[in-house]
Amino acid sequence: MEKMKKRVYSGIQPTGVFTLGNFVGAVRGWPKLQEEYDCIYSVADQHAITVRQNPADLRRQSREMVALLLASGIDPQKSIVFVQSHVPAHAQLSWVLGCFCPFGDLTRMHQFKEKSAKHPEDINGGLLTYPILMAADILLYGTDYVPVGVDQKQHVELTRDIAQRFNGVYGDVFTIPDAMIPKVGAKVMSLQEPAKKMSKSDSNENAVVRVLDEPDAILRKFKRAVTDSEGSVRAAEDKPGVTNLMSIYSVCTGKTFEEIEAAFAGQGYGVFKQAVAESVIDTLRPFQQEYKRLLADKAYLDGVMADGAARAAALAARLLTKVYKKVGFLQL
Ligand code: AMP
Ligand code: TRP
Repeated sequence: MEKMKKRVYSGIQPTGVFTLGNFVGAVRGWPKLQEEYDCIYSVADQHAITVRQNPADLRRQSREMVALLLASGIDPQKSIVFVQSHVPAHAQLSWVLGCFCPFGDLTRMHQFKEKSAKHPEDINGGLLTYPILMAADILLYGTDYVPVGVDQKQHVELTRDIAQRFNGVYGDVFTIPDAMIPKVGAKVMSLQEPAKKMSKSDSNENAVVRVLDEPDAILRKFKRAVTDSEGSVRAAEDKPGVTNLMSIYSVCTGKTFEEIEAAFAGQGYGVFKQAVAESVIDTLRPFQQEYKRLLADKAYLDGVMADGAARAAALAARLLTKVYKKVGFLQL
């Protein structure tokens, strides 16, 4: 695939309002990449149904997710923004790639293990083959870089393995992608159980800050955040709660861990938590305003999705045709 700039691709599932974790670990970095790279951002609705979704909610949340992405600064003129199910080539390539992915690799994925433990009543095939669909997303566009939080690193590595295996048989069809993981904030932890990542689907609302939360809710959640009994603002492995708050504060203010430790030396957690909450509220304010403005304009959002799907489909068709020829599907 001929291209001038390097290609960036990432996706996010429309399974609810995204969290401060999604924002800090992934989405916040995406607009900055638009100048240097050709970027494609997708709303991964096909990934979302590996866990049962209410159809009306999924539809609404898919449009809302587009508004959230645009509100975070993604410019649909510069980047392609689209909904995964609008471009059938993803599912089509996924089938082919599945035939190049060992079963054992799939059962080893952390996310498969976690989600099957969480939903033992519904360990479906999609949950297992989900990373193959993600590989198809990435490989369809000749992607060089995949900006994601650390939890997705293993899936990008699997994508590389699949691409290399395919290329080994058929020649240089796929570009081998690299994950792009932020230095700070790549894994924002739950405010209630700091050993667990902050997740959209957490049932304890106190554990999760959502990007559309009102300022008083944000303040309340940070005030209740689990820390430790030491009382000093210091990053350490045995202080996961405080370290997590420091990472969040660092991303929102640009201050280093050393600067934060110095600024809060001798002060209790109460003062620090207040400061963290305020930095988050300030960071999210312009984003929240822009989101409300965008969501009121449904026609505009639908236009962005239609245009994004058309542009993505045109790019994807070229690679899919090449793959179909390589594997020997009869062309008429
Ligand atoms: P998902 O919510 O699974 O659709 O994830 C969308 C993006 O957010 C992916 O790039 C994830 O790696 C990232 N992400 C999800 N949760 C977190 C978290 N707690 N901290 C940092 N990044 C995250
Ligand atoms: N699987 C990713 C997640 O749950 C979302 C996603 C889907 C994605 N397709 C992608 C991320 C392609 C990067 C590239 O977080």
